Amino acid sequence: MINNKCSCGSKSREIAEMDYAAEIKRLKKEKNAVVLAHYYTLPEVQQVADFVGDSLALSEQAACTDADIIVFAGVHFMGETAKVLSPDKKVLLPDPNAGCSLAESCPAKEFAEFKAKYPDHLVISYVNTTVEVKALTDICCTSTNALKIVQSVPAEKGIVFAPDRNLGDYIKRVTGRENMVLWNGACHVHEKFSVEKILELKKQHPGAKVLSHPECKAPVLLISDFVGSTAALLKFTLTDDSREYIIVTESGILYEMRKANPDKIFIPAPPIDSTCGCNDCEYMKMVSLEKIYNCLRDESNEIEIPENIRSLAEGSIRKMLELSK
Ligand code: 13P
Ligand code: SF4
Repeated sequence: MINNKCSCGSKSREIAEMDYAAEIKRLKKEKNAVVLAHYYTLPEVQQVADFVGDSLALSEQAACTDADIIVFAGVHFMGETAKVLSPDKKVLLPDPNAGCSLAESCPAKEFAEFKAKYPDHLVISYVNTTVEVKALTDICCTSTNALKIVQSVPAEKGIVFAPDRNLGDYIKRVTGRENMVLWNGACHVHEKFSVEKILELKKQHPGAKVLSHPECKAPVLLISDFVGSTAALLKFTLTDDSREYIIVTESGILYEMRKANPDKIFIPAPPIDSTCGCNDCEYMKMVSLEKIYNCLRDESNEIEIPENIRSLAEGSIRKMLELSK
């Protein structure tokens, strides 16, 4: 019934969604619950959310909501972040299998061994990590504030940066900071973009600006007109006066971009092995209205974190929120 495979334009998922949307609205009121959704989730999921945003904005929302229940329409590490910041609230994940290849590329045990090699370094970890890795971290960051967080550290201090090697490499290039050691992790969605495919698209749309997420590889970033987090890319389209854009990040953001800029044209950059022309994170697309409804109705898939890990992780996330004000 609901086609949740692709976000590049299929209409078929409008079928049978009205009832779920209405039921979710009713349950939210009855249970004093909020739904927080990442920009990469399906359009219909974004439509039932009380707040849609990037990783940073969602963490901020999770820290300040007065709801009793948070349904996190996103992936596992995002639900964990919400639980770390709101330990007294029930945080529910519509699909507990919605993981993240980037978070998985940095297992806590191996990361602890890596960190031990650099005892004098400060550890900065991208929010796309497990709670155990956050507990080993001094300051968290997201792609929105990574540059600011790194720049807040005295120039002579060494930094261990994890887990995304592309974001880390980008920050090293922008800041010229050589004393940053990078963990070798990556996001399988952002790594799949290719310069060749983008240049092919540029030939067909010579006036289009290329907007890329810093989780993409360096050659892609080097041919881009603008590099930024999901929220920064969206903001760019609101103030820039071009008519066409090639979007080099997960395709879910196109929904928000098109809604905010109805007269502009947004072209998803295809990954190297594309069959449908867009690039979806299959984990983000696991979140459906039906799963949101079920977990809210049953209060199931609750995130639980041992207090000793939670309190350590909280320190690194709160430091980030403080520094990104
Ligand atoms: P941002 O939300 O910080 O842009 O991160 C993108 C991402 O990959 C989330 O999974
Ligand atoms: Fe993780 Fe990449 Fe999916 Fe974001 S897009 S949730 S980093 S796998």
